[in-house]
Amino acid sequence: MIRKTRQAFRSFFVKDFERLFLDFPDPWNLDKSNFQKKRFTKIEKIIKNIPHKTILEIGSAEGHLTKYLTNRSDNVTCLEISKQAIKRAKLRAPRAKYINSSFQNYNFNSQKFDLIICSEVLYYLKNKKEAVAKMEKMADFILMSNFGLWDVLFSFYFKQMSPIKKTFVFHLLELKFGIISLWSKKHV
Ligand SMILES: C[S@@+](CC[C@H](N)C(=O)[O-])C[C@H]1O[C@@H](n2cnc3c(N)ncnc32)[C@H](O)[C@@H]1O
Repeated sequence: MIRKTRQAFRSFFVKDFERLFLDFPDPWNLDKSNFQKKRFTKIEKIIKNIPHKTILEIGSAEGHLTKYLTNRSDNVTCLEISKQAIKRAKLRAPRAKYINSSFQNYNFNSQKFDLIICSEVLYYLKNKKEAVAKMEKMADFILMSNFGLWDVLFSFYFKQMSPIKKTFVFHLLELKFGIISLWSKKHV
């Protein structure tokens, strides 16, 4: 019980992701939670309808969502700040490519992707406005998955950027107010 409470607290107010993954394998309970399984399945269904060959997943953690993404695409690149998380992700989703870096610091050298997945990550990124601007330059489609009110808040960063528009929002009421939204420059 004490360990569970510590885990919940530490995974919300994270200071050091490497330490978090060393202390608590699967810190967000992505392995066992039905809620997370439904969320991943929904994301997989949505991306089936988005024209894409290449996907960048930011903050792939231990590869739980990555496994669903590699079902849909042969070209998934994951960028993750924790080495420990990548080690586990490689076992779970071996078909993806992994880069160990923070999104803000990594230089993509004008590389582009068709689709960026930013799922349950933007909360943790410093300078969110710059991070969203960087994503917007790199892809035609950005899929976000956030908890309710956060999605509304994060929308403001996107709204300052044209031509990207919110084209699709999926409210997962049965999924405890999780929201999946798709920002795109093209019609789907
Ligand atoms: C809550 S997990 C998200 C896992 C998965 N994407 C999902 O939807 O369930 C957040 C992940 O973001 C990673 N992360 C945090 N800050 C990051 C940064 N600046 N650059 C890349 N990854 C980061 C953390 O290490 C962690 O694995």
